[in-house]
Amino acid sequence: MLIGKAPDFRCSEITPKRLYLNRRAFLGGLPLALAGARRALAETRLTTVKSGLTTTGEKLNTLQQVSTYNNFYEFGIDKDMPAVNARNFRTSPWVVSVEGDCARPRKFSIEEILALAPLEERVYRHRCVEAWSIVVPWIGYSLSKLLAQVQPTSKARYVAFETYFDRRQMPHAEGLDFPYVEGLRLDEAMHPLALLCVGMFGETLPPQDGAPVRMVLPWKYGFKSIKSIVKIKLQGGMPRTSWNSQNAHEYGFYSNVNPNVDHPRWSQKTERRLGEFFKRQTLMFNGYGDQVAGLYSGMDLRANF
Ligand code: MTE
Repeated sequence: MLIGKAPDFRCSEITPKRLYLNRRAFLGGLPLALAGARRALAETRLTTVKSGLTTTGEKLNTLQQVSTYNNFYEFGIDKDMPAVNARNFRTSPWVVSVEGDCARPRKFSIEEILALAPLEERVYRHRCVEAWSIVVPWIGYSLSKLLAQVQPTSKARYVAFETYFDRRQMPHAEGLDFPYVEGLRLDEAMHPLALLCVGMFGETLPPQDGAPVRMVLPWKYGFKSIKSIVKIKLQGGMPRTSWNSQNAHEYGFYSNVNPNVDHPRWSQKTERRLGEFFKRQTLMFNGYGDQVAGLYSGMDLRANF
């Protein structure tokens, strides 16, 4: 079992972006800085270490692109809606319950999650089932470090995730049954690439990108990367997932990126990187096959899509 390293990060090390932007606006008296301060109310800088698991050599998407073109159905079904509708989403205080088949179930405050292990900056490709993709410098650490804290028992074969849901804060939620739920097999969840993500572009996550804590699973279609998590449950049976419940014919449990298996309504062979005109070839397991293919050896990936 992996044991989390001693934290090298303290909350006191981070300056709320609101404060330094306000300071800048006050000193310079610039209307532009004031506008910026209003726009980015919640994000704070994070101290990170470099990661050995970074995907190198590809141009990053911009924060602007990644925070204005989102799927987050709790805040509306169109991709420009979450940036607007999630603006006042309250992400503090925040508690994540890690429970189920484990020896030490417990609740973690977001501050405890931030301090549990060194925060790594990991650049990952992220491929949406709708055939667009992005490259993002995410911040977090392997989910395995959090799971090790609760000591999964031998009964635990899967991990179920659940997103926060409050209709008063999410009046525009539509298109799915809420709360949003997702799941992984335990060995997938323990894979080092499975990132428990608390930030991007050097800062905490904007609400529309899943603040304050989400998953990023770079070898799977984007919808597996559940946002704004409040519950993680270890269990024996395969968890229900939102998209599979909505349309089992189109969305399977595994949802590994696979250019050889078409979505019933469109091809998965190519994708468009946000901001680019020409399409590019989609890679098996989104290009992470050398690291994750072993998880699925012997499985029929057409049947287990
Ligand atoms: N998580 C929740 N709670 N609700 C959602 O609607 N959408 C998923 C996933 N996580 C979604 C979610 C889908 S379809 C995608 S493609 C990714 O989030 C998008 O992540 P991004 O907005 O950071 O690009």
